[in-house]
Amino acid sequence: MDEISPDNMQEWTDPRRNPDERARAATKAMSHAQKMAWMSGPMAIPINGKEKPEGAIGSAGYFPAMAELGLPAQQQSDASLGIGNLGDVRPGDTATALPSSLMLGASFDPELARETGQMVGREGHAKGFNVVLGGGANLLRDPRGGRIFEYVSEDPLLTGHIAGNSIVGIQSEHVVSTIKHYAINPEETGRVMISSDIGESALRESDLLAFEMAIEIGKPGAVMPGYNLVNGTWASENAFLLTQVLRNEWGYRGWAMSDWGATHSTVKAIMSGLDVQSGANIDPEPFFGAPLEKAIESGAVPSERLDESITRQLRSLFTVGAIDYPAKPGGKIDYEAHRKIAQRAAEGGIVLLRNEQAILPLPATLRHILVVGAHADTGVLSGGGSSSVTPTGSLKLDGAEFAGVSLEKVYQPSSPVRAIKQIVPEATVIYDDGKDHDAVAARAREAEIVIVFAELWRSEGQDVQGLSLPDDQEALIVRLASANPKVIVVLETGGPVLMPWREKVPAILNAFYPGSGGGEAIAAIVFGKVNPSGRQPYTTPLSEDDLPRPDQIDPKTVVSNPGQPVTQPVIHRDYTVEGADVGYRWFSRVDRKVAYPFGFGLSYTQFSYGSLSLASDHGSVFVDVTNTGAVSGAEVVQIYAFREGDSSFQPRLVGFSKIRLAPGETAGVSVGLEPRLLAQVVGDNWVRHAGRYRLEARSDALTPITGLSMDLPHWTLPLHHSTPVD
Ligand code: BGC
Repeated sequence: MDEISPDNMQEWTDPRRNPDERARAATKAMSHAQKMAWMSGPMAIPINGKEKPEGAIGSAGYFPAMAELGLPAQQQSDASLGIGNLGDVRPGDTATALPSSLMLGASFDPELARETGQMVGREGHAKGFNVVLGGGANLLRDPRGGRIFEYVSEDPLLTGHIAGNSIVGIQSEHVVSTIKHYAINPEETGRVMISSDIGESALRESDLLAFEMAIEIGKPGAVMPGYNLVNGTWASENAFLLTQVLRNEWGYRGWAMSDWGATHSTVKAIMSGLDVQSGANIDPEPFFGAPLEKAIESGAVPSERLDESITRQLRSLFTVGAIDYPAKPGGKIDYEAHRKIAQRAAEGGIVLLRNEQAILPLPATLRHILVVGAHADTGVLSGGGSSSVTPTGSLKLDGAEFAGVSLEKVYQPSSPVRAIKQIVPEATVIYDDGKDHDAVAARAREAEIVIVFAELWRSEGQDVQGLSLPDDQEALIVRLASANPKVIVVLETGGPVLMPWREKVPAILNAFYPGSGGGEAIAAIVFGKVNPSGRQPYTTPLSEDDLPRPDQIDPKTVVSNPGQPVTQPVIHRDYTVEGADVGYRWFSRVDRKVAYPFGFGLSYTQFSYGSLSLASDHGSVFVDVTNTGAVSGAEVVQIYAFREGDSSFQPRLVGFSKIRLAPGETAGVSVGLEPRLLAQVVGDNWVRHAGRYRLEARSDALTPITGLSMDLPHWTLPLHHSTPVD
């Protein structure tokens, strides 16, 4: 911490005082102009012919320092998956790319989320950032969503716990994290003009529950409402979301910053609960600049409301230590240690989907390996948009255009081919880009084993059109499978794809977008240095016709990015179809078969379960789990619950725990149960109706292993939290 001498010790610089007092005192000391400078800020990169603001490191957002008050600038960076560097605004800057958040979801490992979050916080702090725009917590309501790689899963419990713990990790490094995009913002096509329509109880039991749990666990310093509208009102001026739920019910005390270019008004927005206009230079008007000045002068916005917005920002900055331990560019970063964390995260998230005749793990005695496709000789694919992380050495191809910035399709420099060669140095490993099917099929016939990488690029601002693998990759897989019976498919698809070819190949690994250690992680799993333990964080459907909304909006008919004029009427997207039954709960409700269910994932070992027993307070279940196979491995104990005889109560995940077991080892596992998932929202309460409930340990959302039935009494919990959360 910087030295504070008794002379300059002000009320707010005294770290012994609590953040509330300090924030109030600092707000009082600020001039009106200083306060206004923190109410709206530009995108802090050169854009539309303008330079970045003076003092800005160059990143998503910047709010100036108040040196005379000892308050640092807010330097805000995107950081869903590592520290972003959109548009290469900091030339030469490198960063560690984490696996996509969805892959972290697949790890089912809150500890890992904490550790990777801490890595992001540490890297951000050492680069001079004190606010990072992480914490994606939208539920996957559409597997075609362009940005689902930035979100955790289709399940509220898993999402809440992973996003929450990742925020804990980030903020432990004196950096504020956001949680975003509040709320129900699952699709990119038309994202700046779509209203997500859904009933209030269903919303509270699904997307809001994920945010609520993540906020309880993570206490993020800031919340970012999305671009979309919710039930006809922009999220950034939605009093239900920003005031009734967030403040009055959950007792949230951080600040609400708009998404970039997502503010739509002055008085309505601030009086509904928005605190800051972010990315103001891509909004049509400086709503929280001169118009806010006028509104304060006229009394339409009380000056106390301005103070409140400032106090909220300061309080969060004080709480995480961003003011006592100021971030400065040029800090030391151990990139090799961070790459290893990213690799471990990828190893924990890769899902083994298929392994016929235990073809995997491959023996190190192989001498002739063919690797095909997806630039596997160079790196691993990552998702595009503001979250993009571009470590030095990335392969950058043309991607898309987004809000005036061109987006590159980035392959992060972790080559699977190189990693395979390191594990089997005596083997000949040939790479083929797979474009000439005849030529690669001929090579496949000669090889002992074929590893084909299938890819699908997803990006912010655009959904994928259809769920099929693009560019003839399906035909390529089928062709390779007919040339060689030993074809292993590795998916780098950032989310679900249709897999009509899946039974033609003996092994499939889901590697999402695996980040800076992705190539090494894939090779380690393929050769059995690591036993796979990831579980699907989403359902892979058999057909798009089975989705709640099979049709997609034609991107040519809508505006999807900020900064572009919207002249058409708002589009209403009907999420009442599935309501709170997102993902696997929808498929179970309509009784449709799936390719791979939520929670599914194979291992190189096997586990057996004892019987379940329930704690007397009904708050947890206990089960013995044994590793009955020959190698060490991790098991995700998944507990699902449903109300017997009530078809409106689909089985849902109510608790989970990841455990590691040596061969032959047994562990007693206690799994906490989330009471809100056994309840429904009725009026102002969570209500669990008295009745007979069943708890089951399942190997995935659909497959019971063991269970118990029990009578539970009526139980209620007010929506209004008794203790405030930050
Ligand atoms: C994205 C946010 C991001 C912001 C700043 C927006 O386009 O939706 O997630 O944090 O840009 O880059």
